[in-house]
Amino acid sequence: MDLLSIKWTINLLFCCLFVGVGCNSVDKKIYVHLNYTVPCVRLLNASHQIGCQSSLSGDVGVLHVLESEENLDWVLRTGPNPPYTVILESSLFTRSIMMKLKNGSSRVAGVAVVAPNTNPAENFSPHTTCPNENTGVYTENYDPALAHCNVTVWNPQGNGLSYEEFDFPIFSLKDDNDTQVIRQCYLDHNRPMNGSAPQYPLCAMQLYSHMSAVTDTATCMRRNDINFSISPEMVCDPLGDYNVWASTKPINNTAKGHKMWESVVIAAARLDSRSFFFDIAPGADSGVSGFVTLLAAAHALRNATQEAQPNRTILYTFFQGETFDYIGSSRMVYDMENKNFAVDLDNVHSVLEIGQVGLRTDSKLWLHSDPVSRRNGSVNDEVRKLINNLHSAATGLNFTLQEPNVSQPLPPSSFQRFLRARPIPGIVIEDHQSSFNNRFYESMYDNAEYLKISYPPNLTPEEQLEFVTDTAKALTEVATMVARALYKQAGGADGQLININADPKIVTQMLYGFLVRSNNAWFQQMIPSDLMSHLKDNPTNFYVGVAQQSSEPTLLVQHLLANFTGSTINITQENCQSQREDENDKESKHLYYYMWVQGAAPPNSTKREGFCVRSTVRLSKALSPAFDPLREFTSKDYSTWTESRWKTIKGRIFLVASHELEMLTLGVGVGVLLTSLLLTYFMSSKADILFSSGREPTNATY
Ligand SMILES: *[C@@H]1O[C@H](CO)[C@@H](O)[C@H](O)[C@H]1NC(C)=O
Ligand SMILES: *[C@@H]1O[C@H](CO)[C@@H](O)[C@H](O)[C@H]1NC(C)=O
Ligand SMILES: *[C@@H]1O[C@H](CO)[C@@H](O)[C@H](O)[C@H]1NC(C)=O
Ligand SMILES: *[C@@H]1O[C@H](CO)[C@@H](O)[C@H](O)[C@H]1NC(C)=O
Ligand SMILES: *[C@@H]1O[C@H](CO)[C@@H](O)[C@H](O)[C@H]1NC(C)=O
Ligand SMILES: *[C@@H]1O[C@H](CO)[C@@H](O)[C@H](O)[C@H]1NC(C)=O
Ligand SMILES: *[C@@H]1O[C@H](CO)[C@@H](O)[C@H](O)[C@H]1NC(C)=O
Ligand SMILES: *[C@@H]1O[C@H](CO)[C@@H](O)[C@H](O)[C@H]1NC(C)=O
Ligand SMILES: *[C@@H]1O[C@H](CO)[C@@H](O)[C@H](O)[C@H]1NC(C)=O
Repeated sequence: MDLLSIKWTINLLFCCLFVGVGCNSVDKKIYVHLNYTVPCVRLLNASHQIGCQSSLSGDVGVLHVLESEENLDWVLRTGPNPPYTVILESSLFTRSIMMKLKNGSSRVAGVAVVAPNTNPAENFSPHTTCPNENTGVYTENYDPALAHCNVTVWNPQGNGLSYEEFDFPIFSLKDDNDTQVIRQCYLDHNRPMNGSAPQYPLCAMQLYSHMSAVTDTATCMRRNDINFSISPEMVCDPLGDYNVWASTKPINNTAKGHKMWESVVIAAARLDSRSFFFDIAPGADSGVSGFVTLLAAAHALRNATQEAQPNRTILYTFFQGETFDYIGSSRMVYDMENKNFAVDLDNVHSVLEIGQVGLRTDSKLWLHSDPVSRRNGSVNDEVRKLINNLHSAATGLNFTLQEPNVSQPLPPSSFQRFLRARPIPGIVIEDHQSSFNNRFYESMYDNAEYLKISYPPNLTPEEQLEFVTDTAKALTEVATMVARALYKQAGGADGQLININADPKIVTQMLYGFLVRSNNAWFQQMIPSDLMSHLKDNPTNFYVGVAQQSSEPTLLVQHLLANFTGSTINITQENCQSQREDENDKESKHLYYYMWVQGAAPPNSTKREGFCVRSTVRLSKALSPAFDPLREFTSKDYSTWTESRWKTIKGRIFLVASHELEMLTLGVGVGVLLTSLLLTYFMSSKADILFSSGREPTNATY
């Protein structure tokens, strides 16, 4: 045995024999729990499982900090102490390296990726090149020439890592002191010196992320059913959440199905996003830019639509789960087809969708449309009218609108699910002509920094909340254009357009709230007090999650939309929460939804003054019809994504001994155990004598 391991053994013995005396310092050295760990988890669809998992008791590997791709040889072939847990700087988190690790997985116990504090210079998208390839409108039946992104590859950066399966755990670590401890432990114990193998004890990392579900969705749903009859122990849950919607005119939401005389213009945006890791999905360009624009447009339209109500109703819809084969939009279309929504498809006049609009180049926005439905003359006419409305809405604003080549299909968008049902006229607004401008699509780098949301130094959080960034100004213009176009599209008078203007302050506050911190004074005022715990001091996670309750983004958008489109009414909290305006009111709840929000505290007071908001904002299920009501877990038309359940997610590092040392430790351990048993026996039999002057809580950790 070398000097180090002897020293270590002595430390260990010392620690074991003098519990509570010298142990803590040694304990820290050999045992560090990682505080901030974000795993990659397992998801399943009709035919595959993707993501990552560890064994039930966690996977242990000797730490290896990878320095370059060539350095992989140590992990995969030459290193003498496999398996290894590989620490990757984010620049090495590439498809090439990850696939080599995947193929050599017998020598790999896990991977920890150190998330950088600033975005990388290179492109990075772990998503596929053709998002939602099989569940949009462009199937072989619709137009074989347009299927499978034949004409335009939307996300050429996509390396597909998010859709691979790894049979070892992969975690993301923040670049902080934890990571420094890991690097130091590696340098101190594991680094091969002068080409010779490092000596025991070695620094090791153990990652726990065991996943309960295996194989595919049909298999795990079957196991759910079997388990449920014995104990309510599920193995997987369908991905899903709630869509948020509101209408400019109240629509009776109790009577579902077709509404005579109702003609609605759908204004849509998507809410969700994802990344390789479970709960980091900032979705700044991919989701937030679009739905914040739509929220601001809804706000800009409140007065105009109340004072000079246009003929058609504008229906704002915010779809959840679109990343995973259009869960939210496919569900709403399904509900419309089955008389399970407040209106049906016959009521839908047209669709205007706001996609990624945060990264304009040369101040251009692109109006995408579907070439196939436009082959029909009457549909084409309606699309042209919508385009004209958009153009006239953009006059005087600081950007130009252009159309891509007419033969180009739509980018991935919720509107595709409407077109799958029937040829509805519609436009999708994007910041790109063909492939995405977004270099970080569905990755953790699609964040505030990427949208250039930054603040002068030394601003307090309150000041940052109010500071109008250039991004906010730019999105405000888009929102103004969208609002005016919607108003015209709904049949509103031209004379009103000039009065419709989005508010940069609101846009900047939303960007701050969603991309920097939701726990801010403004968001706090908009929500009921019992939802305060949903507000966080960091960026919102837009991963859709599983369907049990509505997630933080859904709740926030629901309450913001109510504040922006609704009105405050002076009724009691009790009536408000019972969905009525007074004791005799039985009708309002069909038309409106009432929310009691906590409001702000007046000056010189700490007590908030709540109030009641009446709006047309509703939630509707964003759960794939494949689960409910169809129960077709191998559906080709609807999303079949489920998320596995798990029990423990954690990581820790410690020193491992060689096998001899482990046996020695075991021996010592048994010795200590016997000694302590004797001691305990002795102490408890003499306790009355030993502790007669009152007990003190002992400090021992064992
Ligand atoms: C399930 O996901 C895998 C991985 O992305 C994909 O290759 C496959 O086509 C999907 N299966 C279905 C039925 O959608
Ligand atoms: C991280 O380490 C630095 C330097 O060692 C120290 O100043 C700082 O307080 C540590 N931060 C935390 C959160 O422990
Ligand atoms: C983890 O968090 C705990 C409590 O917050 C702290 O005492 C400990 O030092 C942290 N660990 C590391 C490695 O920073
Ligand atoms: C490695 O080699 C250098 C020079 O060859 C020598 O000075 C150093 O002591 C060696 N280190 C170890 C750990 O053997
Ligand atoms: C065009 O679409 C309209 C409405 O969907 C339909 O009524 C009409 O028959 C279609 N025209 C042709 C030529 O297909
Ligand atoms: C539009 O696309 C078609 C087919 O891809 C191509 O032949 C045509 O040149 C394109 N037109 C323009 C203006 O780019
Ligand atoms: C919206 O929120 C603001 C700020 O809390 C508040 O002053 C206003 O009354 C609210 N309006 C509605 C309609 O809820
Ligand atoms: C709200 O209603 C109560 C009771 O009807 C009344 O006393 C109060 O002045 C009203 N408040 C406002 C702001 O109208
Ligand atoms: C709040 O307190 C300050 C100083 O205590 C006082 O001058 C001011 O009038 C108070 N404002 C209200 C609205 O009570």
